[in-house]
Order: sequence, then structure tokens, then C-alpha cells
Amino acid sequence: MSQTFARLRSLCPTVSVGTLTADLMNLGAELALLERAGVGIVHVDVMDGCFCPQLTVGPAYVKGLRTPLLKDVHLMITEPLDKLDAYAAAGADILTVHVESAVHIHRVLQRLGSLENSNRPGEGIVRGLALDPGTPLEWLEPLLDEIDVVTILAIDPGWGGQKSAPATLDRVARTKEMAAAAGKDILVCVDGGVTKDTIAGIAAAGADLVVAGSAVFDGKAAEANARFVLSAVAHAL
Ligand code: DX5
Ligand code: ZN
Repeated sequence: MSQTFARLRSLCPTVSVGTLTADLMNLGAELALLERAGVGIVHVDVMDGCFCPQLTVGPAYVKGLRTPLLKDVHLMITEPLDKLDAYAAAGADILTVHVESAVHIHRVLQRLGSLENSNRPGEGIVRGLALDPGTPLEWLEPLLDEIDVVTILAIDPGWGGQKSAPATLDRVARTKEMAAAAGKDILVCVDGGVTKDTIAGIAAAGADLVVAGSAVFDGKAAEANARFVLSAVAHAL
């Protein structure tokens, strides 16, 4: 287990706060607000407009986020293999790729396992594998040795205004069962469409990590929202 993974595990159950709806004109202040609220992880959604319809940010944005928070970088990009090094060099602590995004996903995960954490030399990168709502959990089975975190997408990435897929909580439980049966220490994360009303139930279903973007950065009360979602997850069990 890498020291970064141990640090991540020590924070769980917890929230990774998405920045897509943060005030990008005041991102430093938004990050400081998260720190004040006790948030330990910032979630960066990288979309290339090919794997999913939106185009967002790249390594320069990740590098520009000067924060002590763990950088949880979610790659929604096609064929990520030759792009991983740039995100590691930019300071990603957690790098999540989509199982649907690469012809040779096992190779991608092995490459991830060889990268050094540029924030913490000598440490590795936490390896995340994400599945869209329509992807069978069975795809995980041959990859369990190469994964630290499984991210269950509750929505199809890149489209707004979606309702969480009804099977999400069941998929969390089944993923935990699969990891336990294989004797693997794997964290389970839920990402997409999480609200202040649903986050406690997601944590109660066994999610170690929950991504909350617009539930925190709603343009009105981000610091109070951050404190709320942290408490909801911490006290869900
Ligand atoms: C899918 C992304 C999510 C999303 C989270 O679109 O992977 O991280 O930005 O934002 P909310 O929590 O607002 O759905
Ligand atoms: Zn995400």
C-alpha cells in the first residue's frame, strides 16, 4: 500500500469536492474555503470532448491548483495511456481512468502503478478505475490487483441534470463484496449527481468516498454545504 493510499484511507469515509461549479474567477478562495471546512480532497474532472461530450481542463489546471488537499483527478478521456505522466507531473495524488476508455485498460493501470507522486517524491499515485452506470461490474474482476479505488458513476459523465442511476447503491455493495472476496483492500467511491439529500444514504450503503460538486459549490453557501456533506458522510454508519 502506498503512503498516499494510506493517507486517503485514513480520511475515509469522506467527501471529494468537485470544482466544475466552483467560482473559477476565485478558485484560490474556493480552495481555502474547502480547507477551512475540513475537506481533505479536491476532485478535478478532466473531459476531452471525445470520451464524453464536455471539454473541461488539463494538466495545467491541475498544476495550477496550489493546495494541501489531495488532488483527485478523474480522467474522462479517450485512450489515457500516454497522458498519465502529464497528470502525475502536474501533482495528481489520485488518478482515475474509465474502464471503457482504453483498449488495453490493464496496461493503463500497470502504467499508473509505476508513476511517482510529484507532490510527495518516493510515493506512488493512487490508482482509480471508474465505471459508467451501464458497465457491468464483472469488468473489474481481472483488474482487482491493479486498482486502489473503484469509482461507481451514478450518471453518464458529461451530461447535466441527470438523476442518479437506481442501481448505484447495489453496485457499491457488490463492488465491496467483490473486493472482500478477492482479499483486496479497495476503496469504493460514488461520483455524479450526489445531492445533500442523497449523500448520507450513499455513505450508509458503504461508499468510502463520495464526490460532491454542485452539492457544495451551489453559488450560495459553499462552506456550509462542505461542512454538511462531510458530517453527513462521517455520521452515516
Ligand atoms: C461526472 C463527473 C462528476 C461531476 C460531479 O459529470 O465525473 O465528478 O462533475 O458533479 P456533481 O456532484 O455536481 O454531479
Ligand atoms: Zn468526477
